[in-house]
Amino acid sequence: MEKTLLIIKPDVVARYKTGEILARLEKEGFTILGLKHLVLSPQAAELFYHMHEGKEFFEELIDFITYGPIIVCCLGRENAVRYLREIVGDTDPSKAKPGTLRAIYGTDTRHNGVHATSPDENPLREVHFFFSTHELLS
Ligand code: PPS
Repeated sequence: MEKTLLIIKPDVVARYKTGEILARLEKEGFTILGLKHLVLSPQAAELFYHMHEGKEFFEELIDFITYGPIIVCCLGRENAVRYLREIVGDTDPSKAKPGTLRAIYGTDTRHNGVHATSPDENPLREVHFFFSTHELLS
């Protein structure tokens, strides 16, 4: 079973949408292998998003992801990374296909609802950024 990481961003958590997002993911065949509710420190957020350092939106991205509690979730499924990105949709919610999580919960590229590991990233780097092996169902 492939693993991937989903983050529900602070504005969506504050709107009490966590339950319906997790229910949708379970309906789509994902198994929740690990789940945490936490506030990221700016230092941790900069490390997590290190690939975007130097881009003009970096500071806004760090300010936004650290302003309140987020949900981080390790999800397992066959072809998990690519399938989750399909369900999540385009980074810009106005371009995301109807029914995708970003089309439903996002408002703009900054407030885009959720983060999902990119196929260009190593999913295990993202998963183990938040979870030790003993914290994940196998
Ligand atoms: S890139 O340069 O193409 O890789 O960037 P992109 O994939 O479009 O976005 C990467 C993450 O940066 C966030 N982003 C922003 N945050 C705050 N403000 C602005 N203006 C902004 N533009 C992009 C975007 O939501 C992506 O975050 P994640 O968590 O990966 O979805």
